[in-house]
Amino acid sequence: MQHLRSGNDTAVKGQKKPVKMKNSFRIWFILLGFVCVCGVDSANVTIQSNPPMSGGFVQTKPEDTVSLTCTAIDSAVPEELQWFRNNQEVSLKDGNRVNTSHVCVQPVSRDDNTVIFTCQLRSNANAKASIQLEVQYPPTLGVHEEKWVEEGSNTVLSCDVRAYPPVSVVWKKDDKLLDLSSSSYKTSNNGMTATLSISKVKQDMHQGLYTCEVESSIFGITGNNFTITVTDKVTKFPLGPAIAGVVVVLATILLATISRWDRIMKCFKKD
Ligand SMILES: *[C@@H]1O[C@H](CO)[C@@H](O)[C@H](O)[C@H]1NC(C)=O
Ligand SMILES: *[C@@H]1O[C@H](CO)[C@@H](O)[C@H](O)[C@H]1NC(C)=O
Repeated sequence: MQHLRSGNDTAVKGQKKPVKMKNSFRIWFILLGFVCVCGVDSANVTIQSNPPMSGGFVQTKPEDTVSLTCTAIDSAVPEELQWFRNNQEVSLKDGNRVNTSHVCVQPVSRDDNTVIFTCQLRSNANAKASIQLEVQYPPTLGVHEEKWVEEGSNTVLSCDVRAYPPVSVVWKKDDKLLDLSSSSYKTSNNGMTATLSISKVKQDMHQGLYTCEVESSIFGITGNNFTITVTDKVTKFPLGPAIAGVVVVLATILLATISRWDRIMKCFKKD
């Protein structure tokens, strides 16, 4: 840069006192300027990954390891590197910062899905490169559940459908697709939990084996089962016999008290 500026000065002076600059000098200045620009500003970084990335993504799965290496390229001077995990700086040990820097994700977890790792030069944040993790995992769904539901009450079945790539969900009863036009069924799915709500359960209509069946483009079809047994409406507390029982107990106490009445009266008289 210094060389370019002094070149301009000469040119300005040249206007007052026309001194023709030698062509060879001009080329010399231009060349020096070019070298300066290349040497200082063209340093950049590149990321290599294991497993290798494709299209800016690294495909992986839970429990695996992803290692990333960032290298400063075309740098004339030692360059300090920085790593960011989703905009949060990763702290690096000494000896893992200059020219080349490694970071490791070990073990990969489901929460690492869509996380972006960025490496950049501390001296120039425009010199940076990024990769994104794509963590593929199947849904967990849950285990076979047995439910006893009282006739006339409501119940909810739910499946953990979190997965990547996302899955599609259908509900079945006794291996047949559920007829959702029936007003007693309602479904929901927010990508985390899929639910089937059944209202006003009736034994003849609703008792049976239910399945949430999910389909993944990678992991295929899986499901979880629920057995619903509809129980009779629990009869209210039998009031008649209970009252009779209480009456008998009270009567017994009363009779016992009367038979000891004189002794009790003596006690009172003592006082
Ligand atoms: C980093 O790279 C620069 C320029 O290529 C070189 O001069 C320097 O010795 C390197 N430093 C380390 C620690 O590798
Ligand atoms: C570094 O390279 C990336 C693409 O790999 C580019 O987008 C960016 O502009 C470059 N930065 C500099 C300072 O050259």
